[in-house]
Amino acid sequence: MSAVELMDEMEAGELSIEFEGEEPQALLEWAIKEFGDRLAISTSFQADSVALIDMAYELDPTIKVFSVDTGRLPQETFDLADALRARYPGLQLELIQPDAQEIEGMTRAHGVDLFKTSVDMRLLCCNLRKVRPLTKHLHQLDAWVTGLRRDQWASRTNIRKVELDHDHGAVIKLNPLAEWTEDEVWDYIREREVPYHSLYDKGYKSIGCAPCTRATAPDEPSRAGRWWWETNAPKECGIHCSIESGGLEHELHALIGDAANPEAHA
Ligand code: ADX
Ligand code: SF4
Repeated sequence: MSAVELMDEMEAGELSIEFEGEEPQALLEWAIKEFGDRLAISTSFQADSVALIDMAYELDPTIKVFSVDTGRLPQETFDLADALRARYPGLQLELIQPDAQEIEGMTRAHGVDLFKTSVDMRLLCCNLRKVRPLTKHLHQLDAWVTGLRRDQWASRTNIRKVELDHDHGAVIKLNPLAEWTEDEVWDYIREREVPYHSLYDKGYKSIGCAPCTRATAPDEPSRAGRWWWETNAPKECGIHCSIESGGLEHELHALIGDAANPEAHA
């Protein structure tokens, strides 16, 4: 069933209003009842994600969790995945891989570290390593949960708690932490002694792939360490907003032809 059949824009808006001001667990509890095993939490293994896993596992230890393993993640991310498995016995944590042939074609044509050569090349890498595998995975679900928060970056200030995600086949997207601040997330992690990513203790404030993330100075905004060499480019990889770029479209078509539009092949 598509999300549009499950819920329309008006219902999503009404639900968002209903859950505004409520604790994140209220939305999670509702979603678990509503969508059952057609619901999954997407995790980047950052602070927001581990707080969400802790909350959801308390409500339902069979909750599904998935992460896209881009092939360029730091070792510390895998160490955290192991720590989470130890802390939450039986945790259904799935690592999703990109298409090996697509990655091989990309690196053969443009090199392994193509993301440093231009913004379009960076978006191409993010698209093949992250956006496409995530989009494919979402086709199996009715709803996905993210750790997005409004205070993360300007592009995120208007997110709602319940959205119809038209970028991914109109699946329902739930953002239970939308209202929380960074401090509230960390208070929760400390209080519940949730395992967290060790790079935070080395000055990182936002964590993605190893070559595209660096530690930030205390006065820098939290996403300043992502793709820090770029100017005038969105600090987004494309999983939370479709990024319009002729150069990206052109490169995608050159590499994977018609398959470049995953919605056409859903
Ligand atoms: S990103 O677009 O810049 O990579 P960010 O790292 O802020 O996103 O994470 C925001 C939310 O996107 C996370 O809380 C998580 O729900 C989802 N997310 C990010 N990266 C991944 C990933 N590799 N796999 C699954 N979900 C992810
Ligand atoms: Fe590629 Fe960097 Fe994007 Fe990871 S963050 S997918 S390495 S461009």
